[in-house]
Amino acid sequence: MNKQFDVIVIGGGPGGYIAAIRAAQLGMSVACVDEWKNSAGGPALGGTCTNVGCIPSKALLQSSEHFDQASHHFAEHGIAVSGLSLDVGKMVARKDTVVRQNNDGIMYLFKKNKVSFFHGRGAFVRALDEGFEIRVSGAAEETLLGKQIVVATGSTARALPSTPFDEEKVLSNDGALRMDAVPKKLGLIGSGVIGLEMGSVWRRLGAEVTILEALPEFLGAVDQQIAKEAHKAFVKQGLRIELGVTVGVIKVAKKGVNVAWTNARGEAQALDVDKLIVSIGRVPNTVGLNADAVGLELDERGAIVVDGDCRSSLPGVWAVGDVVRGPMLAHKAEEEGVAVAERIAGQHGHVNFNTIPWVIYTSPEIAWVGQTEQQLKAAGRAYRAGTFPFLANGRARALGDTTGMVKMLADAQTDEILGVHIVGPMASELIAECVVAMEFRASSEDIARICHAHPSLSEATREAALAVDKRTLNF
Ligand code: FAD
Ligand code: NAI
Repeated sequence: MNKQFDVIVIGGGPGGYIAAIRAAQLGMSVACVDEWKNSAGGPALGGTCTNVGCIPSKALLQSSEHFDQASHHFAEHGIAVSGLSLDVGKMVARKDTVVRQNNDGIMYLFKKNKVSFFHGRGAFVRALDEGFEIRVSGAAEETLLGKQIVVATGSTARALPSTPFDEEKVLSNDGALRMDAVPKKLGLIGSGVIGLEMGSVWRRLGAEVTILEALPEFLGAVDQQIAKEAHKAFVKQGLRIELGVTVGVIKVAKKGVNVAWTNARGEAQALDVDKLIVSIGRVPNTVGLNADAVGLELDERGAIVVDGDCRSSLPGVWAVGDVVRGPMLAHKAEEEGVAVAERIAGQHGHVNFNTIPWVIYTSPEIAWVGQTEQQLKAAGRAYRAGTFPFLANGRARALGDTTGMVKMLADAQTDEILGVHIVGPMASELIAECVVAMEFRASSEDIARICHAHPSLSEATREAALAVDKRTLNF
């Protein structure tokens, strides 16, 4: 007889493992099937995020930032460093340890919450009156029966047509996170989130980095005032960013990679690099799920079609995270996982898509929540804007990091905060206050009247709120 569960979650990334834990907390019997393998062939829970995404990229960003600080900025503080050297192997090994700690942490959480884990690929077999049969193949080989199924199979890197990833010369995020030496010349296709984060890591470690971007605008989805400020900082650091590019033929040879491309003026160009990272977006992953067997509807991108509550076309099948519409972010996947588990339990899980923060972990960091100025203009919404530069913030001066600003956008009539956009130090942490404010539908005046610790970077947020009403105190 098949093992039976109230809920079977397919995929153990942030969407899946969080859905499994929440469902177990709510008293349901839960299985999670995940196929990711570590280098020894064992399970490695946490999906893209933990293994080749959020966690390893932030580990390398931190290490490379330390190196950059020691190489270029310690001297400003009167600290002389001689004999500075770099051990890329050790840096990558540290990153692997951080990843393993996170893998193990999720396994511990499964045990703690009594989630049954199956290491292997999960695929639909058939729909029955009492639920769905799921075949697990891999280290575990069995057929399970689940009353409710949550699909959280994530996404994979999109390759350029006719240039597959070999992870040696042409790298996806996977290869980009495990180079064993700093390439002298590194090329990246796509100046989106991965392009900028990975480009920053390897530039800080000494690579000559060129990023080729198809769109004429830098970070088109970001508030353009913030994007321009960030672009200025990246170029000053030495990142070469070419916009409005058409990538042509790519030749991969033993020595390196040759990219033919055309610049924004239509002039033919060539780029010779040791390694090429292709970061042109990600595609939803339903490979091996056998969605056809049960008639699960996919859209033209291969994403599972769901409604606003993550219900698929099949009653009893839900889908969350990168495999469905919406931003491909770990915290969005997690929120959907929690909400789905609560809906299965008959509760009213909720995800507010208007207050999902975005962070790009470059230096300066870029973070935002809500609408950009260009979106408000396009919608014809009357707004007031306030900005405050970190240059005028005491903590930023003490840190020696005064690049950037906080920008707040508020409704012209009601003063409700409609968006906050930050480029600068610790933007990833500063944005949390703004998310809370927007969740509580705060006005800019609410933030302006709240006491913020001095000296702190968060005072810049308060000053941006004061700037909405043209009454900054320190600028
Ligand atoms: P995934 O994390 O992709 O997990 C899916 C899991 O399902 C995987 O383990 C996969 O092996 C498994 N699986 C797939 N099919 C099957 C099957 N049939 N049977 C069993 N198992 C299966 N987001 C952020 O919010 N912040 C960041 O800083 C950030 N940094 C990133 C950096 C990089 C380099 C990349 C590539 C992504 C980053 N992301 C970041 C995005 C984030 O990783 C994803 O949004 C997130 O992992 C999506 O979670 P998920 O659970 O939907 O899918
Ligand atoms: P992306 O969508 O952020 O950026 C892709 C870029 O490539 C775009 O600017 C696009 O215009 C460009 N592009 C597409 N095709 C091209 C071509 N043929 N030639 C040149 N340029 C081309 O995608 P990316 O960077 O691959 O990241 C995927 C997703 O992973 C992100 O959108 C994000 O959801 C997630 N992620 C999140 C992070 C975070 O939250 N800090 C970090 C890294 C990834």
